[in-house]
Amino acid sequence: MTFDLSALGDGTRCVHAGLPDAVPGQPFLPGPALASTYHLDPVAGPMPGVDGYGRPDNASRRRLEAAIGGLEGGECVAFASGMAAVAAALLVLARVNDTVVVPADGYFKTREFANATLVPRGITVLTAPTAGPYPPLDGVRLLMLETPANPGLDVCDIAELAATARAAGALLAVDNTTATPLGQRPLDLGADLVVASGTKALAGHADLLFGYACTRVPELAILLREWRDTTGAIPGGFDSWLAHRSLATLDLRLARQSANAAALAAMLAEHPAVRQVRWPGLPGDPAFAVAARQMKRIPGVLMFELASRQHVERFLAASRLVYAATSFGGPHTTADRRAQWGDDASEGLVRLSCGIEDTDDLLADITAALARSE
Ligand SMILES: Cc1ncc(COP(=O)(O)O)c(C=O)c1O
Repeated sequence: MTFDLSALGDGTRCVHAGLPDAVPGQPFLPGPALASTYHLDPVAGPMPGVDGYGRPDNASRRRLEAAIGGLEGGECVAFASGMAAVAAALLVLARVNDTVVVPADGYFKTREFANATLVPRGITVLTAPTAGPYPPLDGVRLLMLETPANPGLDVCDIAELAATARAAGALLAVDNTTATPLGQRPLDLGADLVVASGTKALAGHADLLFGYACTRVPELAILLREWRDTTGAIPGGFDSWLAHRSLATLDLRLARQSANAAALAAMLAEHPAVRQVRWPGLPGDPAFAVAARQMKRIPGVLMFELASRQHVERFLAASRLVYAATSFGGPHTTADRRAQWGDDASEGLVRLSCGIEDTDDLLADITAALARSE
């Protein structure tokens, strides 16, 4: 891309992100690079800048990285999934006798991975709730945040924690899955590293998994890329292409998801069958003030609590538009009872991922389903 996209609006940046220069006769986004093996020069053999083997080399993946790197404002390394990116960050950055702090209320697999894999390697793993309090960071190698946290949707002040981490000599990583780079840019707020699952809203069609890490520290990008290329935690050419194709509509999808979440959160907050609602965009939510200050838009994921597991089961059975499904950020509205996955959550707690359906249709369907949940 020969012109600078950074000053343009979200929709424009998403449409043009990572596209090659216009060449007559060529597609806007070249088709997926599907190759494990490329021709080598028979005499010169491998040459720098010439693709040789699919684990390190794939043009679709490079274009996707250029696109996301532009949106996050750093160098992007794409991974096979969000967990591949999280695991790479933790394993590349933490050494024996180091201490890392991970969210107590974030995606449970991050915590599970840290405890199962880092602790036996002599690394101390501490947890902190997203809304705080945080432990003293002196002697901490890495503070990993997740904001908004999945599934509880608490939010923390990235810039404030970045300053505290820097003063203590700790690195700061932020899981930007739920917000996406259109919601916030943690690298601008002082984070050293962004990790994320692109499986969710970023790719946004519930049809592939991928993840990424982004940083402005060149040595860190090299370490992560070497890790990725050696361990083979790569997204394939087709998935990379499909994720890139999907990016063009990210701004539109997020706008509708957020509008749907706003309407549903307001309705749920008043509904007698609902015990609590969490959505950082809801005035009165504990995360509202910091989210309003920090985030450019609030994602379409909310949480609400019904009286019991049976209430949720009846709600899901009665709804015609809400699919029972895990994950979030796709075009279809989905609901996930988090306790069924082992989250430390009440039996009636539901994470609702608002899709891009018409707001009135969702409001009517969910209101009717709630009536039948009792
Ligand atoms: C906040 C967060 N980070 C990371 C992941 C892991 O992503 P993936 O499922 O793409 O491995 C998830 C998955 O739900 C997530 O919610």
